[in-house]
Amino acid sequence: MRQHPGNQGVATNSGILAPYDVATISSRLRMEICLSNLDAQPSVCKALAVGLFSDDASEELARLAQQLGADLPAAARQRRFTAKVGEKLLLFPLPNAPHTVLLLGLGEQAQYALTTMRSAAAEAARVIADHGSAELALRLPLAAINLQQGLLAQAEAVQLTIYQDRRFKSDKEEDQPPKLQSVTIHSPHGDGPPLARASAVCAGVELARQLVAAPPNVVDPTALANTARSLAANHGLKLRLLEKDECTKLGMGAYLGVAEASHIPPQFIHLTYQPASAVKQRLVLVGKGLTFDSGGYNLKVGAAQIEMMKFDMGGCAAVLGAARAIAELQPQGVEVHFISATCENMISGAGLRPGDILKASNGTTIEVNNTDAEGRLTLADALVYACGLEPHAVVDLATLTGACQIALGDEVAGMWSPNDSLATELLQAAEDSCEGLWRMPLPAAYKDRMKSQFADLKNTGPRAGGAITAALFLQNFVKPEIPWAHIDIAGTVWSEKGYGDNPPGATGYGVRTLVDWVSARATDGKGQ
Ligand code: BES
Ligand code: MN
Ligand code: ZN
Repeated sequence: MRQHPGNQGVATNSGILAPYDVATISSRLRMEICLSNLDAQPSVCKALAVGLFSDDASEELARLAQQLGADLPAAARQRRFTAKVGEKLLLFPLPNAPHTVLLLGLGEQAQYALTTMRSAAAEAARVIADHGSAELALRLPLAAINLQQGLLAQAEAVQLTIYQDRRFKSDKEEDQPPKLQSVTIHSPHGDGPPLARASAVCAGVELARQLVAAPPNVVDPTALANTARSLAANHGLKLRLLEKDECTKLGMGAYLGVAEASHIPPQFIHLTYQPASAVKQRLVLVGKGLTFDSGGYNLKVGAAQIEMMKFDMGGCAAVLGAARAIAELQPQGVEVHFISATCENMISGAGLRPGDILKASNGTTIEVNNTDAEGRLTLADALVYACGLEPHAVVDLATLTGACQIALGDEVAGMWSPNDSLATELLQAAEDSCEGLWRMPLPAAYKDRMKSQFADLKNTGPRAGGAITAALFLQNFVKPEIPWAHIDIAGTVWSEKGYGDNPPGATGYGVRTLVDWVSARATDGKGQ
């Protein structure tokens, strides 16, 4: 049998691409961000972006015109700018002013919310970067928005918006740093929250994006294990990597059944963040880590179905991204475990057959009636392992079902939980992070749709309600007394067109919500 290079610790086939190196992430381009009161000290930046409410746009414009010495009201009138949400007007060149001015519509003040602010900050960064300006002064009203939260959201949004990924392009000519290099965010009190928090979160999101966007011949289970090694070495996390033999000993038959067809061995990742202070709570984050999902013998049909399946490790990527951010932020009182049973879903003589029966590590037998419902098989053993840590809560993230993608699209993930208070916490964390999340039902009545004639259950139910039965399947592997939530990120892991602060492609969805949720559980609060 051909030895896959993965076995020798090289993450690529045929050596055409350099091995994936997590270090490329830490050397990412960082823009300089600072806070300043732009009223006290009118901007010296060449580009100024200003957010305006439609209710009082003309008054604001008149005030601003005085400051800048340019006839902004006339320009706005002439171009019919009325400050509706999403409306924008780039004024360049502006007579009698040294500045480029970008007007951003924020809609009615009564409707103004954190997401409106965040999208406006993203839009400002995108337009000004495209315009070719190196510096941006950003002036958005805070209104009823929490000061700390608002400023951090702006700092994150500008960084995440100008993110670009040219790792696999050979055109070095184009390989220029983003033109936008420094952003001054208006803060009424001048100083504000430590922006290091925003940077830590962004580094986590960018790690997740890079892992998801990398091709499946680069980010394979070996590469994910190497990423976990780097995180442990560089960020002070504890690492336990379970190789195939150890997983066999633990009876992880469901996970190993999926991994069987690939030449690249499975890697079960378990990272731990240990706070300096006494541990009050143990939390576990679990991510689906399929570095490629061909469907197996239930092969995915058609290019559209199969070609994006490199993103099937988006749950693992979010969990690793969260690990990086949490290790940097050092929340107190919470011990956090990061788990992913990584492998590939491939085809070979050793692969799963439809009809095979597997035994998971909690003893449950599963008839595999569809080899393409592989994620839940790997998660079954990961969840049993997670519950073995006797945690206060378990949250899993998975690109689990096409059904969830169809139901909610690319901006909203689905959440299933039998535990109301955990569900409420996660919805709050998602809202504070401006990540779309919607709670879905977990009706016990649907359980019998996975009844098997031969085993304890089968791995798929009917097509209708497929995202629900997937969640119900997972529930079989969680101890009933442990609060658990499942988040299906099949839609949100990738955005074809991009939105908000997500450029087209991998979004890094989930990192922010997870970090926010863990921070809220910490004894030192959200640390803002
Ligand atoms: N990784 C896919 C889910 C997926 C599909 C994510 C499309 C993003 C976009 C998962 O492993 C899968 O194949 N699920 C099947 C389940 C079915 C066989 C019950 C699906 O959704 O079609
Ligand atoms: Mn699948
Ligand atoms: Zn999958």
